[in-house]
Amino acid sequence: MKFFVDTAEIDAIADLSDLGMADGVTTNPSLIMKSGRDILEVTKEIAELVDGPVSAEVVATEAEAMIAEGRKLAEIADNIAIKVPLTWDGLKACKVLSTEGRMVNVTLCFSVNQALLAAKAGASFISPFIGRLDDINLDGMELIADIRQVYDNFGFETEILAASIRSVNHIADCARIGADVITAPPSVIKAMVNHPLTDKGLAAFMADWEKTGQKIL
Ligand code: G3P
Repeated sequence: MKFFVDTAEIDAIADLSDLGMADGVTTNPSLIMKSGRDILEVTKEIAELVDGPVSAEVVATEAEAMIAEGRKLAEIADNIAIKVPLTWDGLKACKVLSTEGRMVNVTLCFSVNQALLAAKAGASFISPFIGRLDDINLDGMELIADIRQVYDNFGFETEILAASIRSVNHIADCARIGADVITAPPSVIKAMVNHPLTDKGLAAFMADWEKTGQKIL
């Protein structure tokens, strides 16, 4: 399973990339706003930091304008994935841009039918939002499982990029179900290392080591 980092913060991406934990990056208009950076400049810096796909989102709502924005974003670097929303116009833009050989990430997916449409429109990635479904008392993880089943039933190659991940449990569940990619905030990816028994065990080892009076170096 690939890890994408859901942020436009350069330092956080570099930190994870150095460890091999950033197979790609996803951004969206809200994350660009949070970064306070210019979209073209920050996306270029991110695309130089990681080898894998860097999603940059269009903000137009009509297909022709989305296509024009998508082409401009794709000029930033070879590893740009153009992000379009899961609307009828977004699907039209997806079809045109993917036929031109560009990576397209179709975002704001909340149903298996939407995921099916995106795959048929040639999406490289489909982004189902887990946390936002959980927020309204629906089951985000059930959507990931349903899309996995439907894509496997018909051999669609669109990768399931599980998004709106809020917890480490979301990541473990995505791995069990077989999502191809998760995108999560840096804090959630880093929290995966935590376990109280690791901390307790390390503290006991350190206390016993102290008693030996030895040194390794
Ligand atoms: O990748 C999509 C993500 O940024 C949305 O997350 O937590 O705002 O639902 P959230």
